[in-house]
Amino acid sequence: MDQYVIKGGTPLCGEVEIGGAKNAALAILAAAVMADETITIENLPNVRDINVMLQAIENIGAHVERVDVHTVKINGALIHGFTVDNEYIRKIRASYYLLGALLGKYKNAEVALPGGCAIGSRPIDLHLKGFRALGAEVEIRHGMVAASAKDLHGTHIYLDKVSVGATINIMMAASLAKGRTTIENAAKEPHVVDVANFLNCMGASIRGAGTDVIRISGVERLHKAEYSIIPDQIEAGTFMFAAAATGGDVTVKNVIPKHLEATTAKLLEVGCRVEEFDDAVRVMACHPLHHTQVTTLPYPGFPTDMQPQMGIVLGLSSGTSTITESIFENRFKYVDELAKMGANIKVEGNIAIIYGVDRYTGARVSAPDLRAGAALVIAGLAAEGITTVDDIYYIERGYEAFDEKLRKLGGQIQKVSSEKEIQKFKLKIS
Ligand code: UD1
Repeated sequence: MDQYVIKGGTPLCGEVEIGGAKNAALAILAAAVMADETITIENLPNVRDINVMLQAIENIGAHVERVDVHTVKINGALIHGFTVDNEYIRKIRASYYLLGALLGKYKNAEVALPGGCAIGSRPIDLHLKGFRALGAEVEIRHGMVAASAKDLHGTHIYLDKVSVGATINIMMAASLAKGRTTIENAAKEPHVVDVANFLNCMGASIRGAGTDVIRISGVERLHKAEYSIIPDQIEAGTFMFAAAATGGDVTVKNVIPKHLEATTAKLLEVGCRVEEFDDAVRVMACHPLHHTQVTTLPYPGFPTDMQPQMGIVLGLSSGTSTITESIFENRFKYVDELAKMGANIKVEGNIAIIYGVDRYTGARVSAPDLRAGAALVIAGLAAEGITTVDDIYYIERGYEAFDEKLRKLGGQIQKVSSEKEIQKFKLKIS
C-alpha cells in the first residue's frame, strides 16, 4: 500500500500552480454526455475520481478521447445504456450527476447509489425530490437509483437545505425539460456557477447561478462546446494553509482570489499576511499563530472541505480555538490521528475545541478521507521528525501530483510503497 513519508520542519516557500476544480469537473463530465456533438473540456484535473467518471461515461457508450492529461473530448451521440454501475463508480460521490444528465437527455437513468468520503450520512433525498418535481418516477432498488419519465416539465423547487449536488443535478435535468424551472435556496458555490456556464455554452438557458434563485428555461437539445474548468479553490486553500502551518511563504497561482475570500479571512485572523493579485494569492506565515473561531457554512461561508486543513493550523496557534462543523457530522476523524502527533483537541458533537500546542511531532497516521488526509500531510510537513501517512488512496482521489507540488515548495515528502523505500528516504534526508 502506498504511503507518504514526510520529514517535517521545513517552511514551504515558492510558487505552486493550481489545477482545475475537481468538483466542477465531475459534474461537467457528466453534463457533457447530454449533447450529441463533441464537447472539449480543458483544465481537467488528473485525479482518480475524474478517471472513474470518464470510465463510467465510456462504459455507457460515450466516445472519450484524452487529448492530453488535462484535456478531453467527449461525444455522447452513441450512448446505448442508461445503467451505470461498477465497483469504482459506487465509491465516488459525483456518480449522482449521471442521474441528472441521463434523465434530462434520455428521460431514463439507473445509477448505483453514490459513495464518496465517509464524512456523514450524505442523503440524496433533495436530488430525488427535484427529479420527482420535474415529473420523473424515482425508485431505489437493489442499491440503484432508477429515474424515468415520459416527459420532464418545468417546475418550482425549494431545496430544504443548501445542497451543491442537488442544485447541479436539478439544473442539468431541467435544462432539457419542457418549460421553466425555478430552484429556490440554491447552492451558490463557484462550481455551481461553473457548471451553469458550461451548460449555457452548450445552449442551455440558466440564469441566476451564484445567487440563491436559479431560473432554467428548458431547451430542445444541447450542442458542441469548448470549455475550460475553473481553478480548484480547495486545492488552492490547502496550499495556503500549508504555508501558514509550516511558517512558509507561498504564492498560489492560477486561482480566482474572490473564491478564496473565506480562507483568506481566516488566515488574516490567525495573523498571516495575504497579498492578492489578479490570479494569484501569496500567503506569508507569522509566528506565533493566533487562535480564532470557525464555522463551516455553504458558500460564501467557510467551506467544509477546508475545515481539516484549518484545524491543523489552529492546532498550532496560541490559545484556544473552536471549529463548528455545520455541514457534515463526521468530519473530525483527523482529530484522533492528529492527537498521535501531539495535538490537543476535544470534540463535542459538531464542535472541536482546539488547545494550541507549540509543535507537532512526527508519527504514523492514516488518512481517514480526502481532505482530512491532505490536512495530515500538512501536519507532517509542520511536525518535528518523520511522519508516515497511510491510505493515501483517498488523497489521490482529489489532489494531482500533491507530493510533487509540495516538493517544489521545499517540502520533504516522498510517496513510498515499502519499508525499504522509507529507509531509503530517511537515509537521503539525513
Ligand atoms: C459536495 C462536494 C463535497 C463538499 C460538499 C459541500 C462533490 C462531489 N462533493 O458534496 O466535496 O464537501 O458539496 O460543499 O462535489 N443534503 C441532504 N439531502 C440531499 C443532499 C444533501 O440532506 O439530498 C445535506 C448533506 O447531508 C449536507 C448538506 O446537505 O449536510 C450539503 O450537502 P451537499 O452540498 O449536497 O454536498 P455533496 O453534493 O454531497
